[in-house]
Amino acid sequence: MRLTILGGGGFRVPLVYQALLADPERTITEVVLHDVDAGRLDAIGRVLAALGRGAVPVRATADLDEALTGAAFVFCAIRVGGLRGRVVDEHVALAAGVLGQETVGAGGIAYGLRSVPESLRIAGRAAALAPDAWLINFTNPAGLVTEAMSRILGDRVIGICDSPSGLVDRVLRALAVRPGQVRVDYAGLNHLGWLYGVHDASGRDLLPGLLADDARLGTIEEGRLFRNLRELGAIPNEYLHYYYDPAGTLAAVRSAPRTRGAFLREQQERCYHEIAVRDPLTAWRDAWREREATYMTENRELTGAGEREHDEARPAGYEGVALAVMRALARDEPATLILNVRNRGTLPILDDDAVVEVPCRVDARGAAPLPVGPLPEHAVDLVRAVKATDRLILSAVETGSRDAAVRAMATHPLVGDPAVAARLVDAYRAELPELSYLA
Ligand code: G6P
Ligand code: MN
Repeated sequence: MRLTILGGGGFRVPLVYQALLADPERTITEVVLHDVDAGRLDAIGRVLAALGRGAVPVRATADLDEALTGAAFVFCAIRVGGLRGRVVDEHVALAAGVLGQETVGAGGIAYGLRSVPESLRIAGRAAALAPDAWLINFTNPAGLVTEAMSRILGDRVIGICDSPSGLVDRVLRALAVRPGQVRVDYAGLNHLGWLYGVHDASGRDLLPGLLADDARLGTIEEGRLFRNLRELGAIPNEYLHYYYDPAGTLAAVRSAPRTRGAFLREQQERCYHEIAVRDPLTAWRDAWREREATYMTENRELTGAGEREHDEARPAGYEGVALAVMRALARDEPATLILNVRNRGTLPILDDDAVVEVPCRVDARGAAPLPVGPLPEHAVDLVRAVKATDRLILSAVETGSRDAAVRAMATHPLVGDPAVAARLVDAYRAELPELSYLA
């Protein structure tokens, strides 16, 4: 079975390839990499060659149609505008006095306005050339992009993120239970979800016990990041920190020596160069460790949450989720995974076509959302507001309307003000050639 990776020159591609190599069943027998940047594609090709020594053959192409034809799985992990775009997303927002972050708030909206048109183009080509393939979307903002693609691909597109499984894994460890022993209520949108129930076989909810126990809560990152867990009756995804402490997280991002995007742009320039001139694997691994260790540093420093937890023995990040999805689809080995799929009645506060992030049963027929308990009351307005923002982004893309983009900005809870929204959209249009379609 062939896996095609769009964004094949991406920094996380070696993680995915490592997961394929470690799969005892070798579900994937062939990899095709596609990227618009030949230099990055070549560099990542070298890292994969060093990792696999041909064990799973890899081929690279700059032709999208060729890459899609014959694929059983397509991973879409592109970054339209690259890290240059991420830096602009951050700086324009910060200059306007609002959060500048990759996927949350103004920065995430600017990113979405770039990602969606290209993702729709890809979905159209995939529908034409690989109608039976499963498209696994990592492209951020992943919930929004998955919803856009689902308008063309229906339930053949499945969105993934590593943060829900990471959170659930940490909580289950703190509770000393294994995944198969419990049913979890985790729901919301991508980077906007909550874990609000952990039910054992007898139906008992183990979460209130954890929320009442400060010592145990302190053993998990979210327990140190959030101070209001008991009040929430839930454990939020780490990205909720931006919503619960907007002033604090904005100040922390502002006072950092440079933004995350600027750090990564510099780091990646160095790393991709070193891959070409020295041992590719060492160059990539060193950069990966540094990236992991510095993930969301500002948030952790702000709350004194301490070092990023990292345990090589734990189920791997997004590549682990991706491989689990592919195995379940390809081998019809049912798995329960938290994924981004169409709602189909799971969260009654949203319509059926809204892409939500919820536990799903995955097998050869696809990913079907499982029932979850109702979202906590405090989550409802936030989920509705961010989904409304997503819908306005989709309509801005569809109509090419700058005013719709302004409405999207103004609708987001971390922007809110229409005048600020208009300034933001115009500043983004001025600095991002990819947004020139907005008139
Ligand atoms: C997590 C999120 C991704 C996000 C990434 C950012 O993995 O799930 O959606 O893109 O963090 O990490 P970075 O190292 O790029 O700041
Ligand atoms: Mn994510």
